[in-house]
Amino acid sequence: MHSFLPQEFIRQIRDGEQPPDEHLQHFIAGISDQSTSDAQIAAFAMAVFFNELSLPKRQVLTSAMRDSGNILHWPELKGPILDKHSTGGVGDNVSLILAPVIAACGGYVPMISGRGLGHTGGTLDKMEAIPGYNTVPDNPLFRKVVNRVGCAIIGQTVNLAPADKKIYAIRSATATVESISLITASILSKKLAAGLDGLMLDIKCGNGAVMSDLAHARKLAISLIETGNALGVKTSGLITAMDQPLASAAGNALEVSNALKFLSGEHCDSRLQQVVFGLCGKMLLQGQLATSSTTAHAKISQVLKNGQAAEVFSQMVNALGGPADLLHQPEKYLSSAPIIEDIPAPCSGTINAIDTREIGLAVIVLGGGRKKASDAIDSRVGFDRLLSLGDTVEKSQPIARIHAASRNNLEQARKMLLSAYKIGDAVEKTPTIIEISEA
Ligand code: URA
Repeated sequence: MHSFLPQEFIRQIRDGEQPPDEHLQHFIAGISDQSTSDAQIAAFAMAVFFNELSLPKRQVLTSAMRDSGNILHWPELKGPILDKHSTGGVGDNVSLILAPVIAACGGYVPMISGRGLGHTGGTLDKMEAIPGYNTVPDNPLFRKVVNRVGCAIIGQTVNLAPADKKIYAIRSATATVESISLITASILSKKLAAGLDGLMLDIKCGNGAVMSDLAHARKLAISLIETGNALGVKTSGLITAMDQPLASAAGNALEVSNALKFLSGEHCDSRLQQVVFGLCGKMLLQGQLATSSTTAHAKISQVLKNGQAAEVFSQMVNALGGPADLLHQPEKYLSSAPIIEDIPAPCSGTINAIDTREIGLAVIVLGGGRKKASDAIDSRVGFDRLLSLGDTVEKSQPIARIHAASRNNLEQARKMLLSAYKIGDAVEKTPTIIEISEA
């Protein structure tokens, strides 16, 4: 082999050639020892953006990034280690329900989650709406909670895939986020370093997703599933609709409250329920905790009905520093915004389109998301009681309720929500689970 020259390696990809495996490994190793410069990482990302890597090369890139930091092992756990990754959306609080459901069914979920990105919400920001909840426990506490409770939802505390952190920051700043090869390696390097037996992917598709059309969502699903399986983790996925908020709430504390109501059986949004059952069902099969979809779904219903999943969530919150009685007295702990108002429909008709991205952006305008990485978040703000596609409304009937910290923010976000909801003729309902993707 010729000696490795980063500029030659980048030139090859730029010119549409697939680089040798050792060169990809060398390049990633150079990120760790700082011999690869930021300019070279940026040029590499742009070259891959225009000339995607082949599936075998994506495996090499993913494993090199996975091996750039610590890899977790869980010899003490007596059941399958399972996790889920969502490509992100609006009103997507599935993780808060899925982790305790899987734990109540006998799996272990060490869920290392992220913050909101662009217009999409982040699980970590939602968990931080719970007072006292520690999203950055040290490694012994994280392991103890996973072992004793069955799940822990935390932020990245151990050094998982540090090469991804560097590459991701540069991608964000160089318009190179939307490359299937780079998204695959980024997502999987972190998930594979967490020592999982099975990984379920929720690939969102629609106007509130990163991949708005089905063809792109399918390509991403295939890439993630083939790469995950080739690298030894049972990986499958669902392509699910993100053409409207998944839950009827969008905003951090409001989504926590919505998830608590789901877990306690007080209120259950139908699309959210379909996605929870779809993902959890596949995860129980991956972990051999059920032998068919029917038995998996029966198990999920049982742990929701008998309160076991809710109890796991309570124990997780308490073990990580949050209140022991959150589930029974949520209003005592989840602070509410000073202004809460209904948003009346401007006319009568059927809700026939929702610009979901605009709703995510309206949550940011309210202060519930970040304009820049260092911004603080107001967990109290957002929307709830959001109506769904196909719902009919009379003029002046509420289409949503807004929670705002100030009049000024409220007016801006109200306008955005009203422009996001299109009211007119009836439309045919589309499925929430669009497709199942398996290896
Ligand atoms: N989430 C990630 O972690 N990486 C990506 O590239 C996109 C979404």
